[in-house]
Amino acid sequence: MKCKILIIDDEQYILDSLKDALEDEGYTVLTSLSGYEGIKIIETENPDVVLLDIWLKDIDGVEILKRVKSAYENLPIIMISGHGTIETAVQCTKLKAFDFIEKPLNLEKVLITIKNAIEFKKIKEENVYLKKSFLKDEIILGNSEPIKRLLEDIEKIAPTDSWVLITGENGTGKELVAKLIHKKSKRKDKPFIDVNCAAIPEELIESELFGHEKGSFTGATEQKKGKFDLANKGTLFLDEIGDMSLKTQAKILRILQEQKFERVGGTEVIEVDVRVIAATNKNLEEEIKKGNFREDLYYRLNVVPIYVPPLRERREDIPVLAKYFLNKFSYEKDGKNRFLSKEAINILQNYHWPGNVRELKNLMERIVILVEKEEITEYDILRYIRPQNGKINDFEKIIGGFSSLSEAVKFFEKVFIEKKIKEFNGNITKTAEAIGMTRRNLYRKIKNLGIEV
Ligand SMILES: Nc1ncnc2c1ncn2[C@@H]1O[C@H](COP(=O)(O)OP(=O)(O)OP(=O)(O)O)[C@@H](O)[C@H]1O
Ligand SMILES: [Mg+2]
Repeated sequence: MKCKILIIDDEQYILDSLKDALEDEGYTVLTSLSGYEGIKIIETENPDVVLLDIWLKDIDGVEILKRVKSAYENLPIIMISGHGTIETAVQCTKLKAFDFIEKPLNLEKVLITIKNAIEFKKIKEENVYLKKSFLKDEIILGNSEPIKRLLEDIEKIAPTDSWVLITGENGTGKELVAKLIHKKSKRKDKPFIDVNCAAIPEELIESELFGHEKGSFTGATEQKKGKFDLANKGTLFLDEIGDMSLKTQAKILRILQEQKFERVGGTEVIEVDVRVIAATNKNLEEEIKKGNFREDLYYRLNVVPIYVPPLRERREDIPVLAKYFLNKFSYEKDGKNRFLSKEAINILQNYHWPGNVRELKNLMERIVILVEKEEITEYDILRYIRPQNGKINDFEKIIGGFSSLSEAVKFFEKVFIEKKIKEFNGNITKTAEAIGMTRRNLYRKIKNLGIEV
């Protein structure tokens, strides 16, 4: 989309000549001879950049700057003036004008300043967007076809009261999907209660889910509400449903069918209205065949199935997610502007991500903690990616991430030499001897490959 520039100046010939020049550069240009009209145009047309003369007939440019900035903080305003004094320039800077250009205008300077201003606005807006989503951490990122379909399905499923079964490998985003369904449902203002079925000990599961009355067993000193109670009118998220024992499955099935239960040690029948969303990384159909999962419970839960595909089946989402997490953790840590080199992205995109999005997220967090510089290169990725799992298959996939042989060789040399130097506690002479190089050549390699010793 074309960028829109508004020029406010009381000299018609300035408007005309700038308009021509900027349109030649591909901008959409709006003009105004009057200050008040200019403010109106800002409100209705939403320009990307404003060029604003300080001396206008109806209202002072500095006053316009003040008003507009208070309402549109991220809109860059470039002040222009034929009678600029240092004081006004200082005043404009204080009021957060983007820049100050003196008349007679040098077209080249104007063009460069506009370009910078557009860039500035873009970054500002991105930051606002990121800040908002960081705080919530509830967005499902990705532009791949599977993710688009997933988001469409969520939109359709969420407003209904249907039960949902979410399947997918570890770390693919099942919990995130469950939360989003709740957030987009009629129950959004009611509780979202999370039950990790794998983490509750068998003998406590009833008390966890249904609650207990005071004195019903040793240690039950108070009455306790169960998760079903707490989730009343809201959503109950049964996570890791495939890890429940058959006995618990039977109990849950009864509750799910009746939406009625008694607390442990109690006689009162409690009725609840909950929407159940279940999730598992197991293939329940196979578990049924093996006799580990009840078929009737499976059909009860699996009214609407949602499958979250592994990251390696939607590789185009990897750069988006990696950049997002890199920004998020940098923002939280030190506000540095870390970015990924092309080769780094290449490697990320070719890796097979057994731990899916969670693994990518953890990697980015580790890198933000451990790497001080802003450019994150392939070496940084390789150093911190899954160090414990050195299967040859992983390595092949990593190497496949390079586009040229020389890059791959350089990488290998670097990792190899670093490792060896460490092995010999930083002693270059010993390292050189051990790997069959002269000291001098090893020093040259260290320098060329940027190895820190
Ligand atoms: N598409 C996505 N966009 C942004 N963040 C995501 C996305 N998918 C997953 N995440 C993030 O990755 C992490 C792992 O996701 P989540 O806990 O939902 O996975 P899961 O499938 O429930 O994993 P597990 O099976 O191990 O419990 C979370 O921090 C989540 O916010
Ligand atoms: Mg989970």
